[in-house]
Amino acid sequence: MKAMLIAGARPNFMKIAPILAELDRRGFESVLVHTGQHYDHDMSGSFFEQLGIREPDVHLGVGSGSQAVQTARIMEAFEPVLLRERPDWLVTVGDVNSTMATALVAAKLQPELGCGIAHVEAGLRSGDWAMPEEVNRVLTDRMSDLLLTPSPDAKPNLLGDGVPEDRIVFVGNVMIDTLLANVERARALDFPATLGLDGHYALVTLHRPSNVDEADALETILKGLGEVAREVDVVLPLHPRTRGSVERFGLESMLEPLRVRPPVSYLEMLSLMDGAAAVLTDSGGVQEETTVLGVPCLTLRETTERPVTVSQGTNRMAPWPLTVDGIVTAAREALATEHAAPGSRTPDGWDGRAAQRIVDALERAARAGTAGRDDTP
Ligand code: UD1
Repeated sequence: MKAMLIAGARPNFMKIAPILAELDRRGFESVLVHTGQHYDHDMSGSFFEQLGIREPDVHLGVGSGSQAVQTARIMEAFEPVLLRERPDWLVTVGDVNSTMATALVAAKLQPELGCGIAHVEAGLRSGDWAMPEEVNRVLTDRMSDLLLTPSPDAKPNLLGDGVPEDRIVFVGNVMIDTLLANVERARALDFPATLGLDGHYALVTLHRPSNVDEADALETILKGLGEVAREVDVVLPLHPRTRGSVERFGLESMLEPLRVRPPVSYLEMLSLMDGAAAVLTDSGGVQEETTVLGVPCLTLRETTERPVTVSQGTNRMAPWPLTVDGIVTAAREALATEHAAPGSRTPDGWDGRAAQRIVDALERAARAGTAGRDDTP
């Protein structure tokens, strides 16, 4: 069995690391393709270093651009790679543009190549079609032969979209494999102390287009964070998209009350999350990671595609629409909430063995000859 793994943007790297290691451990051939959607050391290189991911076999170097330009560049650069390598499986993770663009190339070439498409993190839905990630999720699932789900809420979403049940396999959350394997290293780093933070600080991440691409929305959030910063330290590792917006809208002065930093590495982030009194975020992955760490999380979005982090975990949704007062009140509540014992709120299958189950499923389906079949729903 030959599997091609796609890594494009920051949240992909912690998901592919354990799958690649498991393929290696079992002696399966793998090809690692980095699309280059994220390209600088802070957003990409540091993750490869810390997680011990080997150099990509192929680097497409597409960089950034509008949604269409980035997607098109990935497709154009990826097609010859797929034609040359002819893997049995394309394994594509998450919901970023690289996920969908590579699946679309493989789907179009399927009659010729017979390459199966496996989607890791299948079936998550925010129900918000204005999110580029939601479009990516729905389309990738529609094109996939093997839908590998991270939580029990995913399967009904897929069945509702007409996906045949025998293509859906519950494997659990592979990103948590990486978290559990690295949490002790992260704790040993004690990154908050190196920043002079005591235990009572709020950690913030912010990069969703709906929050940062419009001046009013971004201003409301930064004002709210400024108010919170009167009471506790607010640490904000600033995503490049958000930094760009702050500069474009002239909002630099609103960052002054906050402890703004460049994007942090994986272990630094884990250490910061673990030590925070509460985390405020619009990231999907951070909602999951705080749940496993037992840290209260406030999600600054209207919807979440990860409802299990609310029903079983430590996540709560901010009152919507976001207002300065709403953010401050909800942040105070989150900051006053006790941490759960780490692992006490962990959903099923978030146990550090998802990569094993993913490779089992790939192997089983390859044996049964169900990779790349042409009876799509
Ligand atoms: C992308 C994903 C999002 C994911 C996020 C995590 C899509 C549609 N979005 O959003 O789902 O949660 O990554 O970070 O795929 N930039 C740099 N250096 C880099 C990478 C990007 O400066 O290494 C800049 C780009 O030039 C661009 C901005 O950041 O101006 C946004 O990058 P982009 O890839 O368009 O999307 P993200 O907002 O990062």
